[in-house]
Amino acid sequence: PVLGLDSSKVQIEQTSNPRTRPPSESLIFGQSFSDHMLVVPWSSQTGWDTPKIQPYAPLTLDPSSVIFHYAPSLFEGMKAYKDKDGKCRLFRPDMNMRRMNTSADRLALPTFDGGELTQLIRKLVSIDSTWVPNEPGHSMYIRPTLIGTQAALGVNQTSDALLFVITSPVGPYYKTGFKPVSLSADPSQVRAWPGGVGQYKLGANYAPGIKPQMQAATKGYHQNLWLFGDEAWLTEVGTMNLFVVVKGQDGVTELVTPPLNGMILPGVTRDSILSLARGHASGSAPIAGLPKQLRVVEREMNMAEVMAHSDRGSLLEMFGAGTAAVVSPVERVGYKGRDIMIPTGEGGAGNVAKAMLGEIDAIQRGERASHPWSVLV
Ligand code: COI
Repeated sequence: PVLGLDSSKVQIEQTSNPRTRPPSESLIFGQSFSDHMLVVPWSSQTGWDTPKIQPYAPLTLDPSSVIFHYAPSLFEGMKAYKDKDGKCRLFRPDMNMRRMNTSADRLALPTFDGGELTQLIRKLVSIDSTWVPNEPGHSMYIRPTLIGTQAALGVNQTSDALLFVITSPVGPYYKTGFKPVSLSADPSQVRAWPGGVGQYKLGANYAPGIKPQMQAATKGYHQNLWLFGDEAWLTEVGTMNLFVVVKGQDGVTELVTPPLNGMILPGVTRDSILSLARGHASGSAPIAGLPKQLRVVEREMNMAEVMAHSDRGSLLEMFGAGTAAVVSPVERVGYKGRDIMIPTGEGGAGNVAKAMLGEIDAIQRGERASHPWSVLV
């Protein structure tokens, strides 16, 4: 019989060689890894194998494995946080599980019961709970990954796959408050396109972005502002979703992000910001620091509109949103030989970015009593 993923069968092998977590102030994103990892092989004949939590160690794969040739690889990014009682918490893990299955389906890799993987991740986090730093802004990044592993060069649906989860203690993305970034908006560089795979979290969406980022760096910019089409529609920034705050013609502050049109990664932070901002705008859940009147819209915005707002003085904020940095303010966009300056406000971020980071961080750390997004491990 072909078996489904079953967390109750997990086998645990504790490391005989526990390491010590690096000091929190020395942590660099994704550079050190916790003592254990979760590994679950899959084959088309038998389904999901027994899940194993075992010492963190290299994987052994045949050089003909499809992963090395045709890139059947997808991943997720989520975090575990310590609350004030020292308990570990996850943030909206159901969102990551749903997206991971969507990515798996797109790559013809096996799907699984997301509730079962969440259970396994909880077990992994609780075994390595001493690896979750508790200082403000610190957390443990969780990287679920799924790869095709069949040892064969045919371009077909893989008969074998490997699901694994590694974890990494991380500090705040920016050491001292916000550090606003500058973006190069180069219309010749395209991250995603209609009918493509921009909406899935595939490894293959990230490797092609590295060289454009290096090219941006040689021109003095931190990241790329990814545009699409002749009208230069804004899509994403670096590896994050994009938000723009403008003052509308009617004087109302508008929070804008591109709609999920197939080119946009459905970010968990993106969704959280939209939901919190809408709660504020409707008056049902006001958030300190946001303008009283706020219009929250998923719509397309192009560079012509950004420049018009800039000229009019109605371009208020721009920021990236993602799990790693939560929010990342933008201070400058280079486009067709012009530098568009964006206000960043006190401390390097605008009011909306600051309010959003504050609220999301509070929920993640369990400071909003029994908030459904914060899940105890
Ligand atoms: C995010 O969380 O913003 C990311 O996508 C970053 C990850 C690719 C390192």
